[in-house]
Amino acid sequence: MTLIEKLDESAAYIRSRIGSRKPELAIVLGSGLGDLADSLEDAAVIDYHDIPHFPVSTVPGHKGRLVTGMLEGRCITCMQGRFHYYEGWSMQECVYPVQTFRRLGIEKLFLTNAAGCVNTDWKPGDLMIITDHIKLMGDSPLRGANPDELGPRFFDMSSAWDPEAREAALKAAGECGIEVRQGVYMLFGGPQFETPAEIRMARILGADAVGMSTVPEAIAASQMGMKTLGISCLTNMGAGILKQKLNHEEVLETGERVKATFTSLVRKIIAEWK
Ligand code: HPA
Repeated sequence: MTLIEKLDESAAYIRSRIGSRKPELAIVLGSGLGDLADSLEDAAVIDYHDIPHFPVSTVPGHKGRLVTGMLEGRCITCMQGRFHYYEGWSMQECVYPVQTFRRLGIEKLFLTNAAGCVNTDWKPGDLMIITDHIKLMGDSPLRGANPDELGPRFFDMSSAWDPEAREAALKAAGECGIEVRQGVYMLFGGPQFETPAEIRMARILGADAVGMSTVPEAIAASQMGMKTLGISCLTNMGAGILKQKLNHEEVLETGERVKATFTSLVRKIIAEWK
């Protein structure tokens, strides 16, 4: 079976479950934002493991559901749980849901995540609109045969992070009275946090934040001509910036502390990003 045939089977199954709902935007909910999916009205909830060909997380306690319904007057679909490279998925597998969304007719992709802060002028709890990214890892989600139905083999990435979407996000933040940062996200494979030397390298190369997700999805979306917006919750300073050691608890604690602000910003953007 070809990738396109698989994607179309996945999309057909989702369509059969969401009925007359026509999502125009897909959002990937990063750490701390998962609850947003529970606020959707008239929601159709689909477990990833029911969708043919979808990757299925085997990590206990990992929610893996696609929730489609209304939020802020818009029909959206939410990924409650994403696939990370560090879990052992290939980059191709990590982007399979995004490719399915495009086959479903969705043209806007909103990616959220938790990230480490590399910019020493900023602090944990800051929210950052992704203006661009750096992927030093050699792998790509599009490595291998290219089905032309998805998009061109070689394509431009200069507007991968959609300028209009970023404008809309900035305006939404202003209206909510939320201060946001704008900067460059650099992908690391994880699952270990970076070394202090890697964080210094990231800063020298022009990164403001580091993280373990989001970039593969943005690459796949860009190939398919989707408009992509990304917002990072900077949950901790990158390794070596402060004396204290990094730990996952700090990531979760900051995520929890900023959750209400992040959620109101995401809602406002969903309402206004047309
Ligand atoms: N590094 C990579 N990914 C992360 C971090 C970090 O410091 N914090 C949250 N996600």
